[in-house]
Amino acid sequence: MPDSPRPRILVTIPMFAEVLAGLALHFDMDAPCGTADHIDWTPDTLVARAQGAAGLLVAGAPHIDAALLSACPQLRAVCSMAVGYNNIDLPACTAAGVLVSNAPDVLTETTADFGFALMMATARRIAESGHYLRAGRWTHWSYDMFAGADVHGATLGVLGMGRIGQAIARRGALGFGMPVRYHNRSRLDASIEQQLDARWVDKATLLREADHLVIVVPYSPASHHLVAAADLALMKPTATLTNIARGGVVDDAALARALRERRIAAAGLDVFEGEPTVHPDLLALPNVVLTPHIASASLRTRRAMADLAAANLVAALGGGLPPTALNPQVLPLRPMG
Ligand code: GLV
Repeated sequence: MPDSPRPRILVTIPMFAEVLAGLALHFDMDAPCGTADHIDWTPDTLVARAQGAAGLLVAGAPHIDAALLSACPQLRAVCSMAVGYNNIDLPACTAAGVLVSNAPDVLTETTADFGFALMMATARRIAESGHYLRAGRWTHWSYDMFAGADVHGATLGVLGMGRIGQAIARRGALGFGMPVRYHNRSRLDASIEQQLDARWVDKATLLREADHLVIVVPYSPASHHLVAAADLALMKPTATLTNIARGGVVDDAALARALRERRIAAAGLDVFEGEPTVHPDLLALPNVVLTPHIASASLRTRRAMADLAAANLVAALGGGLPPTALNPQVLPLRPMG
């Protein structure tokens, strides 16, 4: 009897060679990016490439929507190596019986390290002063040369108190003696609030009281422009804003205006509306630290994220329980073929 054909998968992102080798033990595979940099996935390219694939391995892109699902009726699983999954229409996948997984937990501490580092670099003007030095402009000393804001003892505001928000709060409270204020739809247990020295406040109070605001909420239509011009107007002129959440949570044009007019002191941004394009007004400002969406990018963590996505794919298409399924109610998956 001939062997039953192996499921075919499409890997839409550059991937560790070792992870591709592991996936090749289970699947016939199309990995057009291989370990290279980038392929521009238009919706049409994706649909064409995904024909016949039972599984997709993705990250924060590409967009997986109802149109793709109906053009690819053989699709059974979409496994992402990102924790945020706003690029995937989860209700549409669930309605189509397609399993979706993300990659939570494995990136929490690495992302919190980065959020804290970006906040510190922003407060202490590290990027701006480095550019000044490289430009050969360091010729004198002055008491106020690149004088920034202290981090230790300052009030840390956390907007979005999930796993990553809590890990940032822990760094601030335990490492830097920062009183923590947070805003989140749901409040933490009193015991966790006590451990983190964290107090729930409404959003306006958070914006008014934070010396350093770090934004960590997931993107959804409800969090679109959660921080817009009116919100920025509540912040202290000495405050900093750090965004490691998703582009679109902050109104980037309004932020650029607030920074230009020094209505807030500085911003650290790892995510942008319309990334990889960055609002030109932000690019022109000295008081912004800009990084290209790399908060989870330590090699060890990126490998753990990829391994988790691969484990989800192998389990989903092999009839097992994917470890971090977002819609396990679709299991068992429809038979292939
Ligand atoms: C990165 O932004 C992620 O969602 O993992």
